[in-house]
Amino acid sequence: MKIIRKTVLMQQYALRCKREGKKIVLVPTMGALHDGHISLLRRAKKTGGCLVASIYVNPTQFGPKEDFSRYPRPFRDDAALCEKEGVDVLFAPSVLYGAAHSTWVEETACSVGLCGASRPSHFKGVATVVAKLFNIVQPDTAVFGQKDAQQCEVIRQMVGDLNFPVRLIIAPTLRERDGLAMSSRNRYLTLEERMRAPQFHAILEEASKLPPKRVAGVAAKKLGADGFVVDYVQIFQNRLCAAVFLGKTRLIDNVPMPAVNCASSRKRPAK
Ligand code: PAJ
Repeated sequence: MKIIRKTVLMQQYALRCKREGKKIVLVPTMGALHDGHISLLRRAKKTGGCLVASIYVNPTQFGPKEDFSRYPRPFRDDAALCEKEGVDVLFAPSVLYGAAHSTWVEETACSVGLCGASRPSHFKGVATVVAKLFNIVQPDTAVFGQKDAQQCEVIRQMVGDLNFPVRLIIAPTLRERDGLAMSSRNRYLTLEERMRAPQFHAILEEASKLPPKRVAGVAAKKLGADGFVVDYVQIFQNRLCAAVFLGKTRLIDNVPMPAVNCASSRKRPAK
């Protein structure tokens, strides 16, 4: 596995691949890799292209009071995992923004509300860094996780609007045995919080089966009663999406709305 730290070297490598007629598949991450990330690498590997994983804790997607400085950076472990999964190139730049950086990519529809409401400028940071990664790595395909449902939509919109020649694959959310969605931030949970955390997913699953009008209200109430501080619970793209705080840790998750439930939201035709 090749580790590339410099943007120009990554770009040169990508151009060489293209000249040789090889496809490139990219899995962008912020590191602290867990099995959820690994599942994306395995999905990407199946495409048969040159597999590039990127690790970059992107400062511009963190708010001033968020966890940028304490975000875990276990680079050696991450690199070993990538090597084991057959990653061809690990792109791990130390910087991606010049001191005078002043150009931004801002998606203005999908990024509004949900996480965008409580994390202003988060998706501007995400869209900008993903656009940069696409220009640097020049992937034919990029793999993202359904776990970040709103992020997927923002990127899908950006790819369409800005004509990036990139095919997107959205891979399913990988969960712990007890249902908790895997996340780099789960390691912030205390033992006691970790024991309560699976209720987040359980409550969303249960509520998603209710009539659509009741889903969000019931889920929010149950989450509150179980000690989660609810940021939002909302139906988005036919999925029940939510963000909560458990202690100081912010967790997000989403589950599909069962088809039968979506159908029941339609008005019955008059007889
Ligand atoms: P990060 O949180 O490291 O996630 C990298 C990718 O892994 C994302 O596409 C995310 O949706 C996916 N992922 C996270 N947890 C997952 C799980 N449990 N199952 C499946 N996939 C999962 O998302 C980011 O980084 C950043 O915003 C990034 C896109 C890299 C831009 O900086």
